[in-house]
Amino acid sequence: MAVEIVPRPSVPLSNVAVSDTHGEDSPYFAGWKAYDEDPYDESSNPTGVIQMGLAENQVSFDLLEEYLENHSQETSCSGNKISSFRENALFQDYHGLLSFRKAMASFMEQIRGGRAKFNPDRVVITAGATAANELLTFILANPGDALLVPTPYYPGFDRDLRWRTGVNIVPVHCDSSNNFQITIEALEAAYASAASNNIKVKGVLITNPSNPLGATIQRSILEDILDFVTRKNIHLVSDEIYSGSSFSSDEFVSIAEVLEARNYRDSERVHIVYSLSKDLGLPGFRVGTIYSYNDNVVTTARRMSSFTLISSQTQQLLASMLSDKGFTENYIRTNRERLRKRYNKIIDGLRKAGIECLQGNAGLFCWMNLSPLLEKPTRESELALWKSILYEVKLNISPGSSCHCSEPGWFRVCFANMSEKTLEIALQRIQDFMEARKK
Ligand SMILES: Cc1ncc(COP(=O)(O)O)c(C=O)c1O
Repeated sequence: MAVEIVPRPSVPLSNVAVSDTHGEDSPYFAGWKAYDEDPYDESSNPTGVIQMGLAENQVSFDLLEEYLENHSQETSCSGNKISSFRENALFQDYHGLLSFRKAMASFMEQIRGGRAKFNPDRVVITAGATAANELLTFILANPGDALLVPTPYYPGFDRDLRWRTGVNIVPVHCDSSNNFQITIEALEAAYASAASNNIKVKGVLITNPSNPLGATIQRSILEDILDFVTRKNIHLVSDEIYSGSSFSSDEFVSIAEVLEARNYRDSERVHIVYSLSKDLGLPGFRVGTIYSYNDNVVTTARRMSSFTLISSQTQQLLASMLSDKGFTENYIRTNRERLRKRYNKIIDGLRKAGIECLQGNAGLFCWMNLSPLLEKPTRESELALWKSILYEVKLNISPGSSCHCSEPGWFRVCFANMSEKTLEIALQRIQDFMEARKK
């Protein structure tokens, strides 16, 4: 059972420990709890809650398992490979294994269809994108400063960017009038609102492809954002954790490509965050990176990464797997095809139920519009609807307000963390719910 922090402990704790900027008291996490208490299982709990609030990728596990079975010699550091075991056991250089950094850089190139180059010397290793985002925030901003983050955004950012760093998030409000695309007007408005509160803005953090929209950001918008940060002399962090989960490599433009096309002009203000949690479906391995074009950021991030390294055994296993081009090419292609198929399945099913989603082309989720079902166009009505879907329909989906969406009625629905059969049951439940509402 989870241990809860008592609000007023008898022995005092630090300000950070007792502050509520951990962001965990949001419906996003409450939905996970409801699922944990009554999890759906086809045979033992067929009326339980289906977890559609978890951006986890399980659609290509068979490929990973097959690789590991066929390459157990190369990927193991035990058995007769005593020297490898000892090397691994004693390795603690925060630069990470060169073989791993090379493999990671080349995997990041492959995902971008070879249209961008990555230098292994600029790859800083971190325990997942969570650590990478926090570490960058520590480096780019002081307590009390702010990062501009377009909404709707990943609810974990409230914790990762703010809690221990003391940095603020100033939301950049995007809405359905232009399919939630980021505009310069919205960036300027957020910047001005920070300035009017005497808050210094140190950077913009974008997620491309976007969580929760499940859509990539267009090249022209990336160029505008780059011009904006240059004009304001601030940083740009591009969290590209879903880059390999765009349904085709052509549909995704990395900020790395935009920089390459500009001959790396203004690149010292750009930093990319990546991890294997989504594209390879390995959140438990805690494998992330910061890729910065700024030498000082690379050096500082490496020093700070001492707090959040990746175990040498994990680095060794992944260096071997990611440098096998035959495997990675097949994996990336097949995983993309499977995600696209899943996406089409859920979109079709929702459409049959009379529900529309934002046009997506990436990620492990879709952005569903239930605004026609709201009693009033308010956050309260959205949460009331979310509760009835969670406790009556028994589906955990994430309300847009937990992603700071300013327009009520939107929900993020994950589709890659379950079997196809479970997805069909979830769709049936939604269709029944919509039918019952019509009556
Ligand atoms: C946009 C975004 N950034 C970062 C993370 C955290 O990823 P990791 O498991 O690599 O820490 C997530 C996880 O959902 C995410 O969606």
